[in-house]
Amino acid sequence: MVVVSPYRICPLGAHIDHQGGTVSAMTINKGILLGFVPSDDTQVTLQSGQFEGEVRLRIDEVQLPKHMYGTNGLTEQMDSSPPQEEWKWGNYARGAIYALQSKGNHLKTGITGFICGSEGLDSSGLSSSAAVGVAYLLAFESANGLVVSPTENIEYDRLIENEYLGLKNGILDQSAILLSSYGCLTFMNCKTIKHKLIHPPTVENNHEGEFGNAYKILLAFSGLKQALTTNPGYNRRVAECQEAAKILLQASGDEEMEPILSNVKPEVFEAHKSILEPNLAKRAEHYFSENERVMKGIEAWASGNLREFGELITASGLSSIQNYECGCEPLIQLYQVLLKAPGVLGTRFSGAGFRGCCIAFVEADKAEEAATFVVDEYSKLQPELASHLNQGPAVLICDASDSARVISNTFS
Ligand code: GLA
Repeated sequence: MVVVSPYRICPLGAHIDHQGGTVSAMTINKGILLGFVPSDDTQVTLQSGQFEGEVRLRIDEVQLPKHMYGTNGLTEQMDSSPPQEEWKWGNYARGAIYALQSKGNHLKTGITGFICGSEGLDSSGLSSSAAVGVAYLLAFESANGLVVSPTENIEYDRLIENEYLGLKNGILDQSAILLSSYGCLTFMNCKTIKHKLIHPPTVENNHEGEFGNAYKILLAFSGLKQALTTNPGYNRRVAECQEAAKILLQASGDEEMEPILSNVKPEVFEAHKSILEPNLAKRAEHYFSENERVMKGIEAWASGNLREFGELITASGLSSIQNYECGCEPLIQLYQVLLKAPGVLGTRFSGAGFRGCCIAFVEADKAEEAATFVVDEYSKLQPELASHLNQGPAVLICDASDSARVISNTFS
């Protein structure tokens, strides 16, 4: 059997999932493949196309969250390994077992599996980690005959990232991977966990031709790679948003509510933003303006207005730079290059913005030209980083895709 677990993009709704905001997402036709056969017993044996070694564990071994092995900070948590672990890349399989066990699932059947990601795309802000987590969850569930809904798997993957690995991220990544449908934009309220698929207009109503063929998704890589779990910047921003929420909730007499920005009314932010420290005011500004961009983006998508959709993406990218202050110099340069590239409708960094790539929506017939432009211009600005890209893709032209699934081949 093979699990197909695609990478995701988030055109609008960046950095607000952890505050219960509303996000938009899609999957792309790149991702993780996990081929596996169920074992006769509890043995799990895994090999990887990207990483060395063989991970061997038992599916009924009790897994403890990573922080139980470390003492200080996220980096140390990630570096200290559980006692019998030989290969760090096995953490996501262990995390998936931890998540399933902690919700009372009885796992008896292991797997022998081989996992492989699209070449050069790991740690690029496309959520390869959630794609890996989801892939293991689906494989273990399938081998053990468990029927699990996408909503339950969203929660299981949250347990892998938040509890097992200690990253305080939201549920955007796994929701996109588990809920997306080809051609639609996935709209998700991260507080209520309610989602909706936004269909583009039908061909008859769309004067500009078939919507799905009108655009391509461009991924432009910066050459910077780092797993998010090893960067303290992500959790720091989450804490700043919570601090802003706490102060605003106190100001409106709602201090008993959980300190997340989705619990703060936009009018409360408007009335009290002057009491926030400048950095906290910027984080909240990003939250409230990004929520609005998502709502406008949904309308633009539903009416087939790619131009407006693109402009909102670019505005979202700017707010990430100016208000959320999470971009690094090479990614900001890449964003600026993409803005000048032929046919680009909108662009922003993908994922947390500390490394990885920028995504862009580009007119389909100009995608090749745009890709060449970006490669040339970026290598003038960052020759050193661009030279690292020779081992992987510098720019990729992709299409939208579907949700994660298990493909089984039964011969009769
Ligand atoms: C990472 C996190 C997500 C989300 C994005 C930014 O991908 O895992 O939860 O916060 O960054 O939008």
